[in-house]
Amino acid sequence: APGSPALTPPMGWNTWNSFGCTIDDKLVRESAKKMVDSGMKTAGYQYVVVDDCWFNPQRDAQGNLQGASGRFPDMKALGDYIHSLGLKFGIYEAPGAKTCAQENPNLTYRYPGSTGSLGHEAQDARQFAAWGVDYLKYDWCSSDGTLADQVAGFTKMRDALRATGRPIVYSINPNSYHADKTGATYNWSQVADMWRTTEDIQAQWPNVTGIVDINAPLAAQSGPGHWNDADMLEVGNSGLKPEEWRSHFALWALMGSPLIAGNDIRSMPADVSEILRNPRLIAVDQDPLGAGGRRVRHDVQENTEVFAKPLSDGSVAIGLFNRSDATTTIRTTASQIGLSGNSFTLTDLWTGDTSTTSGDISASVPAHGVAAFKVSGGTPVTRTTSSLVGARSNR
Ligand code: GLA
Repeated sequence: APGSPALTPPMGWNTWNSFGCTIDDKLVRESAKKMVDSGMKTAGYQYVVVDDCWFNPQRDAQGNLQGASGRFPDMKALGDYIHSLGLKFGIYEAPGAKTCAQENPNLTYRYPGSTGSLGHEAQDARQFAAWGVDYLKYDWCSSDGTLADQVAGFTKMRDALRATGRPIVYSINPNSYHADKTGATYNWSQVADMWRTTEDIQAQWPNVTGIVDINAPLAAQSGPGHWNDADMLEVGNSGLKPEEWRSHFALWALMGSPLIAGNDIRSMPADVSEILRNPRLIAVDQDPLGAGGRRVRHDVQENTEVFAKPLSDGSVAIGLFNRSDATTTIRTTASQIGLSGNSFTLTDLWTGDTSTTSGDISASVPAHGVAAFKVSGGTPVTRTTSSLVGARSNR
C-alpha cells in the first residue's frame, strides 16, 4: 500500500504451520532467539509472527484484547523481548466477529470465543501499536461477503493502523473459508502491503504446485510495497521431500513472495537451515526491483516449466522446474528469458558455481526439482506484457 514499510517482500517466521493453536510465550521467545542463533536473522528474516489463538476468548471489561491467560501473560513484554533481539513483532487478527480458528468447522483446532476486530478496529490497532507490533496478519474468516465488503473491511483496518502513526506491515488474507474466493485475484495494492492469493498451504506437493499455478500468473501486480503472498513456507515440514523443500523455496523466491518460515526452527536440522538461509535465492526474492517471476515456458509433454524474474542489475534469475516424476533435462535460451547478447554468465543459485554460455541454458533436473540460475552479462529486452503473462509454448 502507499507508504508501505515493506519495500521488499517481508521475511520472518510464523507459528501457524507447525504449531496451530498450541502456542505460548515460551515457544515464541525460543523461536525468536533461534532466529538469531541459527543465522536466520543475518540472512534477512525479521518478523516473528504470533498467529491465531494468542488471545483470551473474551475481551476485558473495556473491550480490550488480552493475551491468553497462562500462555501469553504480557504481550508488551513479548514485543520488548523480540525487539531486544533486533527483530520485529507480528500478530494476528481478523476483520469479522471471529478469527479463523474460532470460525473453522474443523474441530481439531476450534478455538472458543468471538474475538475478531469487527467494531473494535481503532481500539485494536491502538493496542497493537502500544504493544510494539510491527506486522499485522489480518485474516478474512467468513464464508461469505462480497468483494466490496472485503475491500471495506480491510481498508478500515488499514486506516486504523495508519492512524496509530506506527509503521506496521499490513498482511491480509481475503481467501480462507470464502466460498467464492472473491478476493483471490483482486489487486489489493492500495489497501495492503501483501495479500494471500490462495487457500491455505499444506505440506503436500500437489498443494504447493497448485499455489504456484494460481500465484505465478498474478506477477504483474507485484512490486515494492505490494506483494503477492503465496503463503507461509512448509520448508522443513514433513509431508514434503527435501527436493520439494528446495523447489518450494526457490519458486517462492522467484515469484517474489514474502518468505515466512513455518517450521519448528528450534530443532531444524542443518539441511533445512541451509535452504532457508540460501543467500543467492534470498537476494533474488529481495531484489529491489520487486518484479514478480513469470512463467515464460511451459512444456506440456515434458511437464516442465521455466520461470524468469528480472533483477535490478539487468540480469535475470531463472528456475528450471521439473514437475514430472523423472529426472529431465530442461532447456531454455537467453532470448526466451528476455535477454539479448552474445555471452552470458550463469551463476548456479544453489551452489554459487559459475559458467558461461552464448545463449543456450540447460540443466538436468531431478523429479520435482528446480535448477536455479542468475543469468548476467546480457541486455534486457523490453517485451510487451501480453507476450509474457500466461505465455505457454510446446518446445
Ligand atoms: C487461516 C489462515 C492461516 C491461519 C489460520 C489461523 O486459515 O489462512 O494462515 O492464519 O487461519 O486460524
